[in-house]
Amino acid sequence: MSAQGVRAEAAAHMAAIGASAHYDHRLAPYDVVVSREHVAMLARQEIIPSDAAAGLLAGLAELEEQLRSAKPVLDPDAEDVHTAIEQYLEERIGADAGWLGTARARNDLAVTALRLWLRDQTAELGATLVALAQALAAQAEEHAGTVMPGFSHLQVAQPVTFGHICLAYAEAFLRDAKRLGFVRALQDECPMGAGALAGTGFPIDRDSVARGLGFRLPSANSVESVGDRGFALDFLSAGASIALNLSRFGAEIVFWSSQPVGLISLPDELVSSSAALPHKRNPDAAELVRGKTGRVLGNLYALQTVVKGLPLSYFRDLQEDKEPLFDTADTLRLSLNAAVSLATLMRPNTATMRDRTDVAFITSSDFAEWLTREQRIPFREAHHLVAKLVRAAGELGCSLGELPVDVRRGVDERLALTQWPDITVEASAAARTSQGGTAPERVREAAALLRTRLAEA
Ligand code: ARG
Repeated sequence: MSAQGVRAEAAAHMAAIGASAHYDHRLAPYDVVVSREHVAMLARQEIIPSDAAAGLLAGLAELEEQLRSAKPVLDPDAEDVHTAIEQYLEERIGADAGWLGTARARNDLAVTALRLWLRDQTAELGATLVALAQALAAQAEEHAGTVMPGFSHLQVAQPVTFGHICLAYAEAFLRDAKRLGFVRALQDECPMGAGALAGTGFPIDRDSVARGLGFRLPSANSVESVGDRGFALDFLSAGASIALNLSRFGAEIVFWSSQPVGLISLPDELVSSSAALPHKRNPDAAELVRGKTGRVLGNLYALQTVVKGLPLSYFRDLQEDKEPLFDTADTLRLSLNAAVSLATLMRPNTATMRDRTDVAFITSSDFAEWLTREQRIPFREAHHLVAKLVRAAGELGCSLGELPVDVRRGVDERLALTQWPDITVEASAAARTSQGGTAPERVREAAALLRTRLAEA
């Protein structure tokens, strides 16, 4: 290849590796908002002529209109969306478009637009998390008294109520919604005016731009604010938390809906059949809610790796912030919407739930507690005694409540009681009335309280 050919290829490779307009076009509406605020401030401060400002505002208004009607008016081959917008304005209003670049750089512009986009994402995802918790609250209200096996180690442990389990997930999702709010509040600062890195000599009014864009403050340090992506990492890390909680919820639903478990049923809309096995009802939506967690965690790791080792200020590496953010927001939107449908439409199989609590000795802890409460036997000792009773009942093939008095006396003189309880799973669940416990009355209270907290979230 000729030297000229090699250089032509190099230019093409440079353009290809540098291009971002094919994905960062979704920041276009945010660039318009930032640019409008910037132009208005420049005119107020008499930094640019007022007729140039009027022309720019008209051009931006026209662009906004085109974007709203989804007309592809921006050059997809421009280096990035911000360059494409300047080009568009130049075509529409001519040389006056050149005033727009006064007292700003793409470094402060790009990161400001990104922050505005992120603010909308946190609001939308936060609202969907609240909707998910509402759906779970509705299940809890309906099934406050529905008894099912509670697991630890996936071994049947104690009877719980389905409502209590739904509220457990709701708690995690409400906390995630708050986490997004913290991310938004922590860095409510506007980078505009930082310029390329050092600020500007023009008499700009950063306060008014920050306020006009809905930020609390302008950023404190120009160098820091063009190179900082902590706000993006905070979002990705909150996103990872959401994804992890969704993943656990998805895994739970997959388990519950497996036939040998049979605790819940899913509607046709949320399962798929198998190409090979005609009877299958695969819980694909729940599996994907779980499976999509991988990319969300990966996106956090990707941006952490980009930022690691970057000295202060702007490097082109930072352009790699957008795709992980876009993908995390898009993925969480899909997963959360599917989770809302799952939470709304899953139906507990109440009879099966009751059946599955019919595991030998599921109420053994209730017997130990009864001995402590009624017979004043220290709990550790009561626990040992019940362990012996469990063994004896296992050998006799009866329940703890059915153990004959002589067998109990054989274990310990103090167990030779005429009043010997037979604790049902309903009684076991109903007895757990401590605050935050599984008793139906507590679940009803907790659901009501959750509704209030959600209304405030
Ligand atoms: N597209 C770039 C980004 O998103 C905009 C900033 C470019 N600045 C520069 N000096 N090349 O990071």
